[in-house]
Amino acid sequence: MCGIIGFTGQAPALSFLLDGLRRMEYRGYDSAGVALCGASGDRLDIRRAVGNVSELEKAVAENPPDRSARCGIGHTRWATHGAPSERNAHPHVSPSGKIAIVHNGIIDNFAELKARLAATGHVFNSDTDSEVLAHLVEEAAGNTLAEKVMAALTPVRGTYGIAVVSCDWPGVIVVARKGSPIAVGIAGSAAMVASDPAALAGRAERVAYLDDGDVAILTPGSFEVRSLANTPVDRPASPLDIDPAAVEKGGFEHFMLKEIFEQPEALENCLRGRLLPDEGTAKLSGLRLGPREMASLCNIVVTACGTSYYAGLHGVYAFEQFAGIPSRIEQAAEFRYRNPIVSPDTALVSLSQSGETADTLAAVREAKRKGALVLSICNVVGSTIAREAGRGVYLHAGPEIGVASTKAFLCQVAALEMMALLLGRTRRLSGAEGAIVVKALESTPELVRAVLAQNDRIATIAEKYASANDAFFIGRGYQYPAALEGALKLKEISYVHAEGYHAAELKHGPIALLEPAVPVVALAPQGPEHDKTLANIQECRARSAPVVAIATESDPAIRAFTEDIIEVPPCPDFIAAVPVVVAEQLFAYHVARLRGEPIDRPRNLAKSVTVE
Ligand code: M6R
Repeated sequence: MCGIIGFTGQAPALSFLLDGLRRMEYRGYDSAGVALCGASGDRLDIRRAVGNVSELEKAVAENPPDRSARCGIGHTRWATHGAPSERNAHPHVSPSGKIAIVHNGIIDNFAELKARLAATGHVFNSDTDSEVLAHLVEEAAGNTLAEKVMAALTPVRGTYGIAVVSCDWPGVIVVARKGSPIAVGIAGSAAMVASDPAALAGRAERVAYLDDGDVAILTPGSFEVRSLANTPVDRPASPLDIDPAAVEKGGFEHFMLKEIFEQPEALENCLRGRLLPDEGTAKLSGLRLGPREMASLCNIVVTACGTSYYAGLHGVYAFEQFAGIPSRIEQAAEFRYRNPIVSPDTALVSLSQSGETADTLAAVREAKRKGALVLSICNVVGSTIAREAGRGVYLHAGPEIGVASTKAFLCQVAALEMMALLLGRTRRLSGAEGAIVVKALESTPELVRAVLAQNDRIATIAEKYASANDAFFIGRGYQYPAALEGALKLKEISYVHAEGYHAAELKHGPIALLEPAVPVVALAPQGPEHDKTLANIQECRARSAPVVAIATESDPAIRAFTEDIIEVPPCPDFIAAVPVVVAEQLFAYHVARLRGEPIDRPRNLAKSVTVE
């Protein structure tokens, strides 16, 4: 949600801010803005625009701010309070116009704070919760900007990542965090801040991640971190290990397509050094679990949101199949509110690409409170969930910029299977059985390449269905989570209404919707339930629904139902979701492209959902 950027140094700030906002646009793209603080300190230059960062660039070109200003903050918004409009765009300014603030998060008690301020004559210019922060900072007592920010935050309830500048303190940026990610970086004589470290790739030499309750004070070339009570806090900075090229499109039309094509390498990176073929097991040092601890686990609860949830469901199947540990999945948004039963012999496995999803983070905290063993599977190194869990597995999939998650899903599946394998080998899985799983995992990059090679054919199939208004995705066993994921991919980027169903469930209601205009994407690779899935496809054909099949190469049976077949190489059923989901990703991508939708920035969505 919302991208925050800030720069203070010896170079002009504006180009840094605009570039950073472009890199973070996937976090929100309703509106954008910058506030620049000139050396003279007489005024702040604010520019804001509705729409994406290119609209802000136009506004800046039409009405140039002080381009020599060496300090400034910027924001790209995902609206929560107040419609996307210029007046609701950040930065928001204080009544005197001397303080500007950008905010990511939600101020829960903003109405109460706003009423209190209004009663003393404050006039507000937006419908946002964020604007009250600018007013509070101006009202607050303090000899420095940091002291004023600390005092202003005292009555605030809710979540925030904020950056504040003031023309009374030129060259200073104060940032604070509670529940919304903030990374601060330094490079030579510059200091910088971003809500996503990827925005600092190639810019910051070293970065530090703030924790909740931290306030950082940035001045050219340095930063210090203090608590809200103004005591020093040690947050060591470390080199930023993100390749700047990874946050560019690299010749692809969209980040999503680039990321789909990066999946073989992403899987290689995820698996590297973690598979032990001779022992038929996996090595996941970040779990920091010995065999005794693993053997004493009685159950596993997996929790996540969205695509990560569907990967987690795949993991539940693998935990039970390989390790025989009773496992279940919980919507992260439900977890803490329904007071779930977990105990010290429960492993809570949380999945999150970003590592910042508010509901998943809340579930992690609740499980810790209840004494469960908390493990995380995250992509973003140093993210809040990864740090709070303390033990886990990083995906090493590389930055995922497209709002639709792709490579993270495949790597989550791989990480979960490695975890299941490792747990299985402390229990009922023999070395020979484990070796089969290792081999299957090693084959995943090649399985993905085989599907990528069919990109043109998938585009041709997509042409036939691009005008559909509804679609179903069906599968059984490991293909059931894959069906849910395929439907999510299609709906979020193409806006085609799509439902994922267990293939056997269709006849319990949704089959009533089938007709010639409603295609069914049937996931039918070889596996234990192949025949049953074929029978379900037959039921769809009997209702005249057209079928797109994703099936094993040269499967003669599938040809009886359709000519629109995307082939996946033969592989064990527990890994077949990997190539199948790639086929679904490409299908969704091409449908969205043919419908002319903004694939990397679908309407109403944001990459990292840091509000409940
Ligand atoms: O960063 P996370 O994996 O925690 O994000 C969870 C969901 O918000 C995310 O997977 C979302 O569903 C994606 N847009 C799916 O493509």
